[in-house]
Amino acid sequence: MIRKIALTAAAILSLSAGASLAAEGGHTHDVPFSFEGPFGTFDQMQLQRGLKIYTEICSACHGLRYVPIRTLSNESGPGLPEDQVRAYAEQNFEVFDTELDDFRPAVPTDHFPANTSAGAPDLSLMAKARAGFHGPYGTGLSQLFNGMGGAEHIYSILTGYTGEEKEEAGTTFYENTAFSTGWISMAPPLYGDDVEYDDGHATSLHHEAEDVAAFLMWAAEPKLMARKQAGFVGVLFLTILTVLLYVTNKRIWKPVKKKKKD
Ligand code: HEC
Repeated sequence: MIRKIALTAAAILSLSAGASLAAEGGHTHDVPFSFEGPFGTFDQMQLQRGLKIYTEICSACHGLRYVPIRTLSNESGPGLPEDQVRAYAEQNFEVFDTELDDFRPAVPTDHFPANTSAGAPDLSLMAKARAGFHGPYGTGLSQLFNGMGGAEHIYSILTGYTGEEKEEAGTTFYENTAFSTGWISMAPPLYGDDVEYDDGHATSLHHEAEDVAAFLMWAAEPKLMARKQAGFVGVLFLTILTVLLYVTNKRIWKPVKKKKKD
């Protein structure tokens, strides 16, 4: 009898320990991004600041290989003038040209380069790949009601370092409250004064993390605004159609209903 009680107590204890361990990782903060909600739009200045952070810091390890550089001039994206995009491509990236059999400076029709550092995932679709990492249990409700998604996950990863680190099998892991396991192998990439913004915007860890997260959201979902607009037009159309059908229905049945009364 006593053994049974002891075993049950041990089981409960280990279960609750497991639960509290699970609660340590994967903590996501909500950020009120400009692109949330049915009428949300990307903030062009923010995308330009995010691009700067990606270029100067993240691109040292992470690629964006599905994103064509020319899309930086999209109106619904960063909206850079085309000559600036050309200069940007040329100054920042080199691509391997199979015809030349050599490296050459990138041009706007190239894509951003792929990963350069082993183990660092490509960030092109990261904001969408991690869209489910937002709620306490990933039900999707948090995304629906709070607009929490991949951009918030990226923001939370960048601001979630506790300063603790450990070494395991020759790899250094950094404690991070937003990462699923609680320990990530990416060293903290941002500290708060990593870049100088061209638009004079204040820098801080939180600003930088927000800006680069917004930029990566645009990279993963460049047609977000067009999609929202199409959805809005669709709803408007259906509303008008509903009213018309209702009125038509009334009219068609009017003589029949009248007869019944007589
Ligand atoms: C020194 C190289 C390096 C730099 C610089 C770097 N990262 Fe990473 N990053 C990594 C590695 C390695 C991983 C894989 C970590 C792991 O799985 O433990 C990673 C993982 C990630 C992840 C995935 C987290 C997840 O949920 O799986 C995101 C998002 C990310 N980095 C964003 C960024 C951003 C944004 C920047 C620029 C501000 C940046 N990284 C700069 C090396 C780097």
